[in-house]
Amino acid sequence: MQDGVYYSEYLQLDKILGAQALESDKEGRTHAHDEMLFIIIHQSYELWFKQILFEIGSVMEIMSKPNISDNSPDLFTINHRLSRVVTILDVLVQKVDILETMTSLDFLDFRNMLRPASGFQSIQFKVAEALLGLKMQNRHGKEYYTSQLKPEDKKIIEDIEKKKPLLDLVNDWLERMPFFDKEEFCPENFAAGAAHPFWQAYKQAYANSLIEAEKSNLTHFEEMFLSQETKPEWSLSPKARRAALFILMYRDYPLLQLPFQLINNLLEIDNTLSAWRFRHINMVHRMIGARTGTGGSTGKGYLQGALNSHYIFKEFAELTTFMIERNKLPKLSGALSARLGFEA
Ligand code: HEM
Repeated sequence: MQDGVYYSEYLQLDKILGAQALESDKEGRTHAHDEMLFIIIHQSYELWFKQILFEIGSVMEIMSKPNISDNSPDLFTINHRLSRVVTILDVLVQKVDILETMTSLDFLDFRNMLRPASGFQSIQFKVAEALLGLKMQNRHGKEYYTSQLKPEDKKIIEDIEKKKPLLDLVNDWLERMPFFDKEEFCPENFAAGAAHPFWQAYKQAYANSLIEAEKSNLTHFEEMFLSQETKPEWSLSPKARRAALFILMYRDYPLLQLPFQLINNLLEIDNTLSAWRFRHINMVHRMIGARTGTGGSTGKGYLQGALNSHYIFKEFAELTTFMIERNKLPKLSGALSARLGFEA
């Protein structure tokens, strides 16, 4: 055999494969066959959470740069890694199938031995949520949340929350989009504080597209896109929202394709995360019915609340309320059109 790296040593398999200690194998207890599956499935989830954190961390590092060019390798790398996160999350949803081969009767053989541990204490999962942008004030069941984590784990989350999450970095990036800031793209004179002529035209086209029952949307449009102020409960500022809506509407322009993919990837992350939450709830319901969780929550009720309120990128999803048909879009100036990649 040649010298060099050896498979099991490289992967430190002695540690990983030696890390399945069944509670039901402890002295005086009865061995529960399915506990091995239960441990391995959780460990494999945690390994994938680690990979997800690794990808999100690297994306945030790039996004923290003061400038990211729209057609630079940076944006490509960000998208590539975010779509990897989405693929992993997709697989994590499927993996629930494996755990569902365990019946509730099999689970009862060892469930009581696990108290008060729970997946709720998965600090990597909580870190991922916080890094993406889920804020403490928006967490479902905050009191329960703080009572179930060790102080050192709580501190990890609190420290993360002191820094900008991905959601805020994306907001900053959108605010820096130069579409209508540069003089060359804005030849008309308009009064200070007034909406740019492009957005005035867009607002008119949007107003024309609304049916009677939707007319109040116009007030929301003005508040969310044209106002000079932002609200504490908003993740996106009006300026960032304008840039995001612009990207969604004019995404056929070459220069907007990578920015569009970025927004799409964020929506995919919310989609797959909520798909996982949904499958987890159904699995929990089937496994323990209406009983409380080993972590002491109301079980299904808590998880349903978290599913409903933990969408992180929901303000991007809501932008579609304000879209109009392609053929009604205001025509872009020649200079802007050329800059985005098509000649006028
Ligand atoms: C028999 C299988 C499972 C049952 C019955 C179950 C049950 C529960 C319950 C009842 C909760 C709410 C907290 C509590 O009171 O304990 C919870 C939370 C959680 N579980 Fe599971 N779980 C199972 C499998 C898994 C697996 C395989 C994972 C993968 C890591 C997981 C990850 C989580 C996470 C991350 C939370 C927190 C969710 C949130 O706060 O939004 N669970 N689980």
